Amino acid sequence: MKIVKTVAEVREQVKAWRAEGLTVGLVPTMGYLHEGHASLIDASVRDNDRTVVSDFVNPMQFGPTEDLETYPRDLEHDAALVEAHGGDLIFNPEPAEMYHDGFSSFVDMTVLTQELCGLSRPVHFRGVCTVVSKLFNIVTPDRAYFGKKDAQQLAVIRHMVDDLNMPLEIIGCPIIREEDGLAKSSRNTYLSAEERQAALILSKSIKLGMELVKNGETDAAKITGEMTKLIESEPLAKIDYVKMVDAATMQQIPALDRPALCAIAVYIGKTRLIDNFFTEDV
Ligand code: PAF
Repeated sequence: MKIVKTVAEVREQVKAWRAEGLTVGLVPTMGYLHEGHASLIDASVRDNDRTVVSDFVNPMQFGPTEDLETYPRDLEHDAALVEAHGGDLIFNPEPAEMYHDGFSSFVDMTVLTQELCGLSRPVHFRGVCTVVSKLFNIVTPDRAYFGKKDAQQLAVIRHMVDDLNMPLEIIGCPIIREEDGLAKSSRNTYLSAEERQAALILSKSIKLGMELVKNGETDAAKITGEMTKLIESEPLAKIDYVKMVDAATMQQIPALDRPALCAIAVYIGKTRLIDNFFTEDV
């Protein structure tokens, strides 16, 4: 397993693999890897001859008041995890390698990014689409792997790949949870012991929503209303949104008459956490 810092080194390695007729999978990450990322690496290793993991805290997807400076980083730990899961290359560029002086081209998307997280994080998806496009151009993977926890990000990336005829397959992988239900996230490290306990309200409300759907409830407002009531019972929780949307367009829907995504974003103290379920997975 190798760690490289430059675009040129990635290109050289991928070119050598291609010369041998090998397929390449890409797992884009911002590092501080956990079992959620490991499951993406496992899927890529299973599907492809070689796996590249990008490890880059992308400044462009953070708003001015967000946690860019404090976002956790640990390359040594990441390297051990990638190695243990059979990854072949880590691309860990400095910001200047990705965004040189005078950088001024962006990949922006309308509609899908104007809902859910896009409302409270207005610059986020422009940063995600731009960096993911760059990574696709640098690595030229056959397949790229994203977690379903960031369900809107997955939908946005699928849409971008389709809109811009990008020649690769996007694979969405299931949410990985702690034993007590909390969805794995690098941001969980921000939580104090008390907040960590309070954060369980997210997965509890997801479980409740799934239960209601399983029992045949199709009224979106009833489902999100029950989930909202439960989250509001936790004093440390502050809701950003609890919404039922069309799984492809991310537009809010009144009834479960098509594949839907139930998505929530909740602040526990200062930490903003997300969770979700797709009705087709219930
Ligand atoms: O999901 C993430 O960690 C990031 O948004 C991604 C896709 C690596 C782009 O920086």
